[in-house]
Amino acid sequence: MLLDTFSLDGEVAIITGAGGGLGRELSLALVEAGGKVAVVDVARVSGEETVQEIVEAGGEGIFIKADLTKGHEVKKMVAETAKQFGKIDILINNAGTVLGKPIIEVEEDEWHSVMDINLTSTFLCSKFAGKYMIEREKGKIVNISSNAGIAAATNQSAYCASKAGIISLTKCLALEWAKYHINVNAIAPGYIRTALSASALDNDKIASVLLKKIPLRRFAEPKDIAPLVIYLASKASEYMTGETILIDGGHLSHL
Ligand SMILES: NC(=O)c1ccc[n+]([C@@H]2O[C@H](COP(=O)([O-])OP(=O)(O)OC[C@H]3O[C@@H](n4cnc5c(N)ncnc54)[C@H](O)[C@@H]3O)[C@@H](O)[C@H]2O)c1
Repeated sequence: MLLDTFSLDGEVAIITGAGGGLGRELSLALVEAGGKVAVVDVARVSGEETVQEIVEAGGEGIFIKADLTKGHEVKKMVAETAKQFGKIDILINNAGTVLGKPIIEVEEDEWHSVMDINLTSTFLCSKFAGKYMIEREKGKIVNISSNAGIAAATNQSAYCASKAGIISLTKCLALEWAKYHINVNAIAPGYIRTALSASALDNDKIASVLLKKIPLRRFAEPKDIAPLVIYLASKASEYMTGETILIDGGHLSHL
């Protein structure tokens, strides 16, 4: 049946940055679709809150603390997930950060930090979780890029470049791993109401300027993004790989 192809019954997922606004919503969606979830974040309190919500919803989840910019921590996190759940079917590379500064003011360490958290973590998690997927010749990887990885945004150079890098890495992973039946796709959301975007979206003046550029005339809520991620994590998207799907209320669809 068609709807059965969206089911994640018995599937094991790793989701990074799962203590954050989008990560928590996606974790709950993965569980609702039938999956078991390793909730990964560098922030323990918010990560454990996500697990608590999963358990309250009747699902199965564990928290694993890891700084995903460090290869040895990623390797340990992936091994722990496989040990606890016996396999890894799905990886959602969602952890991220933002930096709002004119290029001329961006310090070298700030540039590297954004690249490490957004792009290098996606490489490291894919590399280490990918080993388990390659062994079983089965896997789904969903990378969270941004519409700012496709179009430029003022004072967001490091963020834009890191998110564009994720789109390229998605294609490279998809190309190399298609022979192992591992689908690798990305999504490119516009503004979503979370802590990451709060300084802009909670500012009425900035928000009204931004809203004029969005045909649907509202910012996304995390729940607007979840169905697309479930599609890409499930059998429903079996014939799609290397793709980046915009989900931004029409923001980049017009001049
Ligand atoms: N909010 C938006 O408007 C928006 C738009 C497009 C794309 N995105 C992307 O969505 C993803 C989720 O963002 P969000 O809006 O939920 O932000 P958020 O700040 O609420 O969550 C990000 C999470 O990543 C975690 N994290 C940061 N560095 C980490 C590290 N080194 N190791 C492990 N975890 C780390 C944080 O602790 C946090 O829980 C990000 O990749 C972001 O770029 C967000």
